[in-house]
Amino acid sequence: MFNIEEFDIKLDTDFIGRNFIYSDEVDSTNSLLLTKKDFNIDGTVLLAEFQRSGRGRKNRTWISNAGQNLTFSILLINEIKENKANHINLGASLAVAQALENLYQLNVELKWPNDVLISKKKISGILIESSSKGSKINRLVVGIGINVNQPNFPGKFEIQPTSIRKEFKSTVSREKLLSEILNNFEIIYYQLKKNATKILNDWRNRCKLIGEKIKIVEEDKILNGVFEDIDEDGFLLLKVGNKIEKIYFGDVSLR
Ligand code: BTN
Repeated sequence: MFNIEEFDIKLDTDFIGRNFIYSDEVDSTNSLLLTKKDFNIDGTVLLAEFQRSGRGRKNRTWISNAGQNLTFSILLINEIKENKANHINLGASLAVAQALENLYQLNVELKWPNDVLISKKKISGILIESSSKGSKINRLVVGIGINVNQPNFPGKFEIQPTSIRKEFKSTVSREKLLSEILNNFEIIYYQLKKNATKILNDWRNRCKLIGEKIKIVEEDKILNGVFEDIDEDGFLLLKVGNKIEKIYFGDVSLR
């Protein structure tokens, strides 16, 4: 059982998570916050103990044992420009990384666009979705799944999953972890509004693939090149021969 009081004591935000909805079971926390217009408070966080159809990037599924992990979404309803959504995407993975470093001293690696890895295994994934009014995004949902206390991961995966319990060798408080992530996320969100440089640099410092030969797979297209950098909008810059290509989507792996 998630202890809301324990979570609330540690929450130190102005608006992120101040409206907190706890649910036993939903289809997907992202889908609910995106489609149900009754949810209209900026910063609302919806946490579910179980998702019947948790979703990942590229129509993949996100499978997570009931009651052991964190599957939640954050609703942002201020007007957000398209390129800012990408900043928030990177910022969310940074907020998770910082929480894992601060609370458990884990060595975290970030993989473009928004996977959080430990020892090359996936501990957290993020799915950002939005709805627009005219040319502006008016609802942005940041969905975060973290493997917290799940002891094992049977099955086949594109990237092998792991959990905090497996890496830290102990079960941990989901309440403390969630409040830490939301606290970090709000600071990052405010920083991004002013100037994204620091956040982009913090992200770069945790990305071990910059400078490496990588392969990008997007649907049936494969691109080989060197991971040059991310640009000021957070898109990947791939050096192919002596040309730089900007990559907006795709799965990155070492060549
Ligand atoms: C990925 O790695 O492809 C992203 C996974 C995102 C999973 C989270 S769990 C909470 C939120 N609700 C969903 O249906 N998906 C996200």
